[in-house]
Parts: sequence; structure tokens; C-alpha cells
Amino acid sequence: MTSTLLSNIGELVVHAGHRNMSDSALVVDHGRVAWVGPASEAPPTDRAIDLGGRAVIPGFVDSHSHLVFAGDRAPEFEARMTGAAYTAGGIRSTVRATRSASDDELTTNVARLVEEMRRQGTTTVEIKSGYGLTVDDEARSLRIARAFTSETTYLGAHVVPPDADPAEYVELVTGPMLEAAAPHATWIDAFCERGAFDADQARAVLEAGRAAGLPGRLHANQLAPGPGVQLACELGLVAVDHCTYLSDRDVDALAQSGTVATLLPGVEFSTRQPWPDARRLLNAGVTVALASDCNPGSSYTSSLPFCIALAVRDMGMSPSEALWSATAGGAQALGRTDIGTLEVGRRADFVVLDAPSSTHLAYRPGVPLIWETWADGQSVYERTPRNGGLRG
Ligand code: NIG
Ligand code: FE
Repeated sequence: MTSTLLSNIGELVVHAGHRNMSDSALVVDHGRVAWVGPASEAPPTDRAIDLGGRAVIPGFVDSHSHLVFAGDRAPEFEARMTGAAYTAGGIRSTVRATRSASDDELTTNVARLVEEMRRQGTTTVEIKSGYGLTVDDEARSLRIARAFTSETTYLGAHVVPPDADPAEYVELVTGPMLEAAAPHATWIDAFCERGAFDADQARAVLEAGRAAGLPGRLHANQLAPGPGVQLACELGLVAVDHCTYLSDRDVDALAQSGTVATLLPGVEFSTRQPWPDARRLLNAGVTVALASDCNPGSSYTSSLPFCIALAVRDMGMSPSEALWSATAGGAQALGRTDIGTLEVGRRADFVVLDAPSSTHLAYRPGVPLIWETWADGQSVYERTPRNGGLRG
């Protein structure tokens, strides 16, 4: 291991409340942030890298994705863009494609998407099962996801599979399927929504998970108002995700419980639903995370820069708030204290932007600004600059 000094940083975002605008430097050693401060005071290191005035931010923590699937649903997206509504039923077509795919096909698809995320600055990703919905297919999905991340989530309670009886299916999810899934999972999740699982069913799933050593997280209030957010707060879950339709009582419960509200603006983009009101949540003192929800149905984006741009433009977040939510907020939603900021001692997971400040993430939407991604103190993606400019 060699210690590395990164200097000539345009803006160093240690965390959103700590943005150094000039003369900043960062020292990485043994995979950790070893030092941050003015370059003139940096300690000696084995090597030094001049970043040419580019900004450095913490790596994105994407706390909600569904990457284990086969096929896509582009025709469904096209129909939505010409007036059709999103329904949870579309999940079943991905279940069919996923069940008939080989392990290799599923693994290759996850690898492709994880690589796509890395190229967009994501250094930690949570991956859910939920397109298998049999004992073997859920266990297989989690085993495949585990090869890519320690943050795996068992989502047997995604929808009731075709031809299954809902009550019997909940028995399966909380019994044999849980037993097969638990060795490969860190978390348990359920989709609490009309057309998926009601509050009693979601509670049964989350309680069974807890008893098996899997803490819960929940999909709630995505398509309509409902009981999910209240349930998540009552059970003291670390995070409740979507939060698109919230009552004042829901907002109060979130503020009081400390449960993180994870907003997934790629979903509202891709379903033409109303934007979740991040400003209302922040004003009430709720902790907000942003994540991609990358999946082939409701949000087929792997890009947190895109989600940040949407959150700033349409959800009332400032650029700093959105960046915090996609980094430190995501870490909090996963109960992690080793990632999400660049404080000394944290994992050296960070992104060099081809821009002088992090504001450019929202200011220059759709532009590939990721210059380099570092994970665990190593460069894992580097954009290769090609000279010569555009040929017209
Ligand atoms: O988070 N809400 C439930 N599950 C996914 C959608 C999955 C799909 O449409 O395939 C979500 O939006
Ligand atoms: Fe989801």
C-alpha cells in the first residue's frame, strides 16, 4: 500500500456542510481517508496526483436497486409515455424472464449494471431480489447479488406471483423462502401497496425477517397514500423508500422516528407520477436519501447524477442537499458509518468530477462529469481522455 496525496482540488466536499473551495488536498492511505486540509500543510506521501482544479466528492451510495433480472420493458415505458399508467403488475413479466434466465445471464447483467454505476460515481450499491418469487429463484438472485455487494436485500414480498394464493404466499415468504434467502441477505424488504401487500402482510414479513436476523426496509406510499410509512416508523426501520404520497401524519412520523425517507426520482420520471416533495420533508426535519431504484420497470436508470439533477430541479432540494442525500444520506439508509463522507478514517470512496464544483452535477444535467471513481483507496474507473476534439 502506498499513501497518495491528491492536490489541486477545485472543491473538496468532505460532506455537504464542509465544502472547501480552494487549495484543498486529500491523503489516502490503506484504503482510508488519512488526512484532509490545505495543500500547503499536507504530510509527506509516497506519491502525488494533481487533479487540475477538479472537484472531489464522496462516492455515491445507492441504497435501493433491483439489479438481478433478465430482459427489459421498453414497450411498457413507451406506452406510459403515451398515456398508460404504471401498475405493479408489470413486475410479473420480469419475473417470467428472470426465472428462465441462466445464472450466467443474470450475473452478466448485474456486472454490466454495477460497472455502469461505477462509471457514474457509485461506490456502494444495495441490490434486492424480488424477480424470482420461488424459494430457489429468490435464493439464487441473492447469491448472485452477494458476489457484487454485502448490501443484499431479500424481497420475496415484491408481488404475489401469478396463480398463487396471497395468504399461502406470505406463509412461503416468511417460512421456507426466508430460510433459503437469509444466508445470502443483509436486509428484508416488502412492497406495501395496493396490488402488492397490505400493512398486515408487510408487518408479518418484516417481523419474520427480524426474527431471522434481517433488519427491515420498506417500499411504501409509491402509487397512492397508504399505511406503509406509518408501519415503517412504528417498527423503527432504518429506511422507508419512495414516499411519493405522504399525509401530514406520515411526515410527522418520519420526523419523530428518525427513519430515513429514501426518494427515488427516477421512478417519477419514468412513470409520470408527481415528484416526491423533498422540501416538505427537509423542512420537517426528516432525513432524506436519494437512490436510483434501478430496475427494468419503474426506473431504468443507474445514474445518481441524473437523480440529483431531478431532485434539484423538481423536488426543491439545493445542490448541496441533493449531494448529501445521495452520499451520506444513502449511507445512513444502510446504517453505515464507514462511507458517505470523506472525513478522516472513512473508506476512501470518492469521485473526481470533470468540473470545478459539485454544483455542476445538477447545473450540467446529462453530461458525463465523472472523471475518476475511487473505491477503497483504489482507482476503479478512469475516463480516458482522447485529444482531437469533435469532428464536424
Ligand atoms: O421499486 N415498487 C416496487 N418495485 C419496483 C418496481 C419494479 C418493477 O416495476 O419491475 C420499484 O419501483
Ligand atoms: Fe424498488
